[in-house]
Amino acid sequence: MKRLLLACALAALAACQRPAPQLGLPPMAMAPASAAQVDLGRKLFMDRRLSRNNTMSCAMCHVPDQGFTATELGTALGVEGRTLRRNAPTLLNVAYVGQLFHDGRAATLEKQAWGPLLNPIEMGNPTVADVIGKIRTMPDYAGKFEAAFGGAGPDEQSVGVALASYQRTLVSGNSPFDRWRYGHDKAALSDAAQAGFAVFAGKGHCIACHTVGEQHALFSDARFHNTGIGWARSKGEAVLRRYRVQLAPGVFTEVQEQDLATVSEPLQLDDGRFEVTHNAAERWAYRTPTLRNVALTGPYMHDGSLATLEDVIEYYQHGGIDNPGKDKLMQPLQLTEVDKRNLLAFLRSLTGDNVARLASMARAERFDYPNP
Ligand code: HEC
Ligand code: HEC
Repeated sequence: MKRLLLACALAALAACQRPAPQLGLPPMAMAPASAAQVDLGRKLFMDRRLSRNNTMSCAMCHVPDQGFTATELGTALGVEGRTLRRNAPTLLNVAYVGQLFHDGRAATLEKQAWGPLLNPIEMGNPTVADVIGKIRTMPDYAGKFEAAFGGAGPDEQSVGVALASYQRTLVSGNSPFDRWRYGHDKAALSDAAQAGFAVFAGKGHCIACHTVGEQHALFSDARFHNTGIGWARSKGEAVLRRYRVQLAPGVFTEVQEQDLATVSEPLQLDDGRFEVTHNAAERWAYRTPTLRNVALTGPYMHDGSLATLEDVIEYYQHGGIDNPGKDKLMQPLQLTEVDKRNLLAFLRSLTGDNVARLASMARAERFDYPNP
């Protein structure tokens, strides 16, 4: 505590932005960053000029109003419309993720930030020096890095720290489920969602991977599992035979997988965790994602192949997709229609109470600057 106070005092008298403790979330491992660093990170996050051709910001794939993911895209689109092979994860509660990316290949948010900035199909900048040079020419950043980082200007480290510090404030608990389970408010959760939690923890076996603790819940064991999607994709097999496709808000149609395949781009190779460890047992294994705010963050799975939570529940009902490396915890379930409805109500009860506020704080940031 003493060291924390000292760190805050050192942060140039700036108010210390430790997010208020939220029901259902564990204490943050890292000391909070100064408000100046967080504000700078938010500005960078929203700024489209940080891409090579001034079109892409972090926020265009991690859209604040879409649960800090992109709900209209299965797999993300980058600079000049190039397709990424994976679904953009939500950044809500990313502060609690130890191994970043679907395959866990990045260890810290500070290091991760330069990945998209330099990736030719994300933000497309040629080098770190190009990005830093560009920031130095932008009058609206003048003095801001110096003020936030004790005199140091923009550089590789400070840009990473600012973006990481902002992302660590995207903390969202206090969901109806949290108020019921950790706040002991019996009225906070509907009967259906309570019954759904019993399915989640009982005959659904969801809790084996999407863990829920006594004091708090991250809904992830932070491990990597082969549930079958990666395997099916690599073999060109269907994930679900039918897809719901949105035509207009609230208007859906069902499409057969084979019809969809004829209009889609060919899939890019994706071996999951194997790409990091080269351990054959981890081919097509992906990190268990959190389920917090999951009602807001569709489409689902590492490739966005499941459009709705109903589809996800159907997927688990069939035990995922059989393949030689499938996780032993993935078994066909015997959920009744009532169980499925209750499970859905439970998943929808995991939305934090501050998501709209976090989105509006980001939206308030101006990001339509003229070209530098
Ligand atoms: C073109 C779309 C796109 C842009 C732009 C983009 N991201 Fe991402 N982001 C993704 C995708 C897709 C993934 C998952 C990639 C993977 O797992 O291989 C991802 C993953 C992440 C993760 C890991 C989250 C987790 O749960 O593991 C973080 C953190 C992140 N992005 C932050 C940022 C920041 C900061 C920026 C801007 C500097 C940014 N992203 C720009 C699409 C994008
Ligand atoms: C063997 C471990 C395991 C079990 C058991 C399990 N999950 Fe998952 N879950 C995962 C993994 C791993 C992923 C990510 C898969 C991928 O990206 O391809 C995932 C993804 C999800 C997603 C999508 C989240 C997102 O943001 O894309 C939802 C929703 C979900 N699971 C709900 C459930 C429910 C409900 C149950 C129980 C019926 C369940 N899970 C059982 C490991 C598991």
